[in-house]
Amino acid sequence: MIIAVDGPAASGKGTIARALARHYGLPHLDTGLLYRAVGQAVLDAGGDPADPDQALGGCGFDDALLADPRLKLDAAAVAASQVSAHPAVRAALLHRQRDFAARPGGAVLDGRDIGTVVAPDADAKLFVRATSAIRARRRHDELAAAGSRLSYDRVLADIKARDLRDTTRASAPLRQADDAVLLDTSYMSVEAAVSHAIEIVERQV
Ligand code: C5P
Repeated sequence: MIIAVDGPAASGKGTIARALARHYGLPHLDTGLLYRAVGQAVLDAGGDPADPDQALGGCGFDDALLADPRLKLDAAAVAASQVSAHPAVRAALLHRQRDFAARPGGAVLDGRDIGTVVAPDADAKLFVRATSAIRARRRHDELAAAGSRLSYDRVLADIKARDLRDTTRASAPLRQADDAVLLDTSYMSVEAAVSHAIEIVERQV
């Protein structure tokens, strides 16, 4: 069983994907982490994530980087959204995501283009969303817990800029797949969102 979970930043897709993976005993891949690692690798090399060649160079990141707490920070998120607009970067990361999805028994993947590009034949597809103000509040609290002192307004502006880049890029833009079911988590507790997500998957498989 392959479950695709897509949605914008801080919509709750990661929490939902992890809970679904636990519920069904499936491995989980947070694909945003791959793009963050590419972005961070470019920053570490003193490069510009907006430059296509430097961004592609970042795809050779060392896997140890995937466990680096700096990937949670806003700088890595912004760099991720810049490198992810380059088609060559998306192509370089596609095999890794498809290999994960093809694991025997299945997998849960979350990201922006899982239901549309990475696993268009997934057995279940969810598109998770929430208002930008609520997503910024969640991300702000998460970042603050990780030691960041970014203001709420700055986090909201970054989320809006990232939404715009992710939805308007030519290569695999963020959009709901035609056969994905929408789940708006704006006014839901984590528990409610997870149980809705399980119901949605049960209806699709
Ligand atoms: O989900 P997360 O916030 O970690 O993603 C960071 C950035 O990586 C996103 O803003 C998006 O630009 C990019 N991304 C993507 N495709 C994915 C996952 C993430 O373009 N499947």
